Amino acid sequence: MLSALWKTDLIKSKYFVTGLDNSKKTASIAGMCGIIAYVGKEKATPYLLDGLQRLEYRGYDSSGIAVLSDEGVIDLQKCAGRLQNLRQQIGEQAVAGSCGISHTRWATHGEATDNNAHPHFDQSEKLVLVHNGVIENYQKLRDDLESKGHQFRSQTDSEVLSHLIGVFYDSADGGSSEERLVAAVRESLKQVSGTYGIAVMHVDAPDFLVGARLGSPLIVGLGKGENFLASDVSAVVAHTTDAIYLNDYDLVCLKGDEFKVERIDGGVADFQVSQVEFSAEAAELGDYPHYMLKEIFEQAESVENAFRGRLSDEEASAKLGGLQMSPQELRDVDRIVLVGCGTACHAAMAGEHLIEALARIPTEVEIASEFRYRNVPMDKNTLVFVISQSGETIDSLGALREAKRKGFRVLGLVNAVGSTIARESDGGAYMHCGPEIGVAATKSFTSQFTLLTLLALLLGRMRDMSVSDGQEIIKELRALPDKIREVLKQSDRIKEIALKYIDAPGMLYLGRQFNYSTALEGALKMKEISYIFASGHASAELKHGVIALVSEELPSVFVAPKDSVFKKNLSSIEEVKARKGPVIAITTEGNDELDRLADDVIYVPETIECLNPILSVIPLQLLSYHFSVARGCDVDKPRNLAKSVTVE
Ligand code: M6R
Repeated sequence: MLSALWKTDLIKSKYFVTGLDNSKKTASIAGMCGIIAYVGKEKATPYLLDGLQRLEYRGYDSSGIAVLSDEGVIDLQKCAGRLQNLRQQIGEQAVAGSCGISHTRWATHGEATDNNAHPHFDQSEKLVLVHNGVIENYQKLRDDLESKGHQFRSQTDSEVLSHLIGVFYDSADGGSSEERLVAAVRESLKQVSGTYGIAVMHVDAPDFLVGARLGSPLIVGLGKGENFLASDVSAVVAHTTDAIYLNDYDLVCLKGDEFKVERIDGGVADFQVSQVEFSAEAAELGDYPHYMLKEIFEQAESVENAFRGRLSDEEASAKLGGLQMSPQELRDVDRIVLVGCGTACHAAMAGEHLIEALARIPTEVEIASEFRYRNVPMDKNTLVFVISQSGETIDSLGALREAKRKGFRVLGLVNAVGSTIARESDGGAYMHCGPEIGVAATKSFTSQFTLLTLLALLLGRMRDMSVSDGQEIIKELRALPDKIREVLKQSDRIKEIALKYIDAPGMLYLGRQFNYSTALEGALKMKEISYIFASGHASAELKHGVIALVSEELPSVFVAPKDSVFKKNLSSIEEVKARKGPVIAITTEGNDELDRLADDVIYVPETIECLNPILSVIPLQLLSYHFSVARGCDVDKPRNLAKSVTVE
């Protein structure tokens, strides 16, 4: 259930509707293998293929579908590659059948091949399963099953689970087929360690599906005479907006007109039916060629959504009711730990600067995957924030649970409402940036940055920040959307710069202070969608080693606004130019000091120093976007990646 704290924090926006009752949630977008299953009266295949299309951002190296035909035979089709391959394979030959399961994969165990694609049969080929997660003890289970004559068709950990359920099903005595299938799923899940979101179907139990989750998201979509299981509500909202967000250890049985949620151990489940608010157009490409470009261009609005309703002119401060902490509790905080992965971690690094500069509270950034296994000493007045767009990143969730286990208050800065991190944290603030579908995080970064600014403002004003400083930050925040629009107008020019360097073997990104994390984020964008080497550094680190890489072929991208460290950045740029390295510089409008020095200069409007990264990161996003497109890369679905990482 959504924490009460978060509910108070919902604001009116394109994606979020005010007056939501306690059970209303907005669709989340999370990733890493996608499951969609259907049981109802219609032909299952179109529902499954449509759902897979919407889930493809979760993984896209192979896909598959299994439908129980009206003749009682499982038709299983699967293949490596994009969903288009599966569509072609199925062609016009889709079997008539109104119950089916399907999957789009991001490989963990076993390459992306036809055989490793899901669904997986059991030994008898009467049962099929799709799985999202990792079965950690699969090798032992597989060895045991093989010693009993089982033959595996794939190298996946998941196939072990289908065989295991098949074994328990075949050996169960008494009860209906449906009862036996449920019992077999329960028994099998007792044997596995790891994470799973599963959907299971058996020929003996037509028009009946079983699902269960532990560590991997799974929702139930409740339609009229039809029900769904899916990794994410985005797969079902075209058909229903009534959804149940399953909790870990929940098991669900579905028929077309019935559903039952229990605990895997047979106990009573605590669940509720939520009304999902989803703007279909928010998840559509519209006139944009790629989601990434659309999401970059949404930032004027998404940044505004992050601060809308959260600024108090009267107090010259921010209002973050979702934190659910009294002013005194906030004043008592004497240390903050910010946790996240990838782009969220870069936002956390920016947040460290913001909170320390504006609120003077010692703040540290922890990479979530490191934090969860490190015994970080923290005193009792430490406040932990987990930052995550998807709210499902397993390392971030692990960090959240570890901090909670130790008794710390853990708050979330999350985009996906109803996601696991949102539900498990003690409170927090939503980003309200709408669905982010491109694998490269763009608008979520600027929204995270905006939220962290609000947090720093709130904490600062409770300490020694003056009214006038608070007012200045508020004024500049409000001015950001128009300034973002100004930056976006330069997309074509940035494209020209990208084309100029199209043969570059790599790029260096350099920035200081507030823009050190901007440099890291720019480098991450470039490498993840263009597959060239790119690394970000604090500008002054150049002379401590990085400068050895500088050459006529390797461009350096400097984030060098006219701020308190501009002269220092200028010296670093001089050092690169002295070694004939090409320089692309991002600086402040009206600053002509780089014209004579840099090869290409991109100007962003003036703002206060601490907010500059929101403007400066946008040219970096556009640079990587245009570079990637020009090199023929798949911008929205770069190789080897998925939108969010729900396996360790
Ligand atoms: O959903 P999250 O914010 O928790 O995801 C964290 C990272 O996986 C994510 O930011 C990743 O680094 C992006 N692909 C970067 O563009």
